[in-house]
Amino acid sequence: KLIPGNDPRSVAAYMKSERCRNVFLMLGAGVSTAAGIPDFRSPDTGLYANLARLNLPYPEAVFQIDFFRANPVPFYTLAKELYPGRFAPTLTHTFISLLNTHSLLHTCFTQNIDTLERLAGVPKDKIIEAHGSFASQRCIECKMPFDDERMKRAVEGGEIPKCERRKCGGVVKPDIVFFGESLPKEFYSSIHSLRKADLLIIIGTSLTVHPFASLVHFVPQKCPRVLINLVKVGEFDRRDDVVLLGKCDDIVRELCRELEWEEELESMWRG
Ligand code: OAD
Repeated sequence: KLIPGNDPRSVAAYMKSERCRNVFLMLGAGVSTAAGIPDFRSPDTGLYANLARLNLPYPEAVFQIDFFRANPVPFYTLAKELYPGRFAPTLTHTFISLLNTHSLLHTCFTQNIDTLERLAGVPKDKIIEAHGSFASQRCIECKMPFDDERMKRAVEGGEIPKCERRKCGGVVKPDIVFFGESLPKEFYSSIHSLRKADLLIIIGTSLTVHPFASLVHFVPQKCPRVLINLVKVGEFDRRDDVVLLGKCDDIVRELCRELEWEEELESMWRG
């Protein structure tokens, strides 16, 4: 076994070894809950449990492209609350940046649209924003990009941004991947790189949304996979799979202690 124990110490020992060079990450909303952004599916605190006020036919409709085309108001009500600008990276985001500093980070696949990986200092070319992000936007009809500043003002002012091209006037939407839309081409073109993985760390995701959740199958059979999550999700029954349950920031702190990165982590996070 490459990782003999189901604990942060064993994971750290493997990470310190010569064998572990290419670390891949898969992130979900649980990584950002400590930043004050709710996840989607946690029973009481998740977004989908708290959308009654938006009068949706069903919670996921808020991210459904056909629903949005007919009625963008619920999405923009939510967008105002989730819009980047007032959230800071968590300790776990900082850990990812630290993996990069230590030349271990190959690629960070994220489902999150909050751009906190970038804000934590992870290089843009190592992040695959599989579900897009709030960083850019365009008209859903003619696809013309829309200005960042105007977007910010519209969202904060509670207005629905509309395309400014003559005779278009389509609704503008952040470049977030809605249900019914395809994932960015970078997502598909990066999948093959997972064959190079020496370690896959999966953090804060229910692994319920595909194709993202299927990435766990693309690392070699012998590549250890480490799940860090509040609750058990997915199927982790390979020989070197490790499941660490708890708050990701706590587990990451422990892992960094074992890696002797704790001081660096704290100063980078505060810094
Ligand atoms: P979910 O809300 O489905 O899952 C978040 C997971 O993180 C749950 O299993 C929580 O138990 C766990 N969690 C929450 N806080 C945590 C913490 N502090 N430490 C560790 N674990 C924690 O979110 P995702 O899996 O990211 O798609 O959801 C996937 C996609 O569904 C999203 O990207 C979004 C959504 O519909 C789109 O909007 C396209």
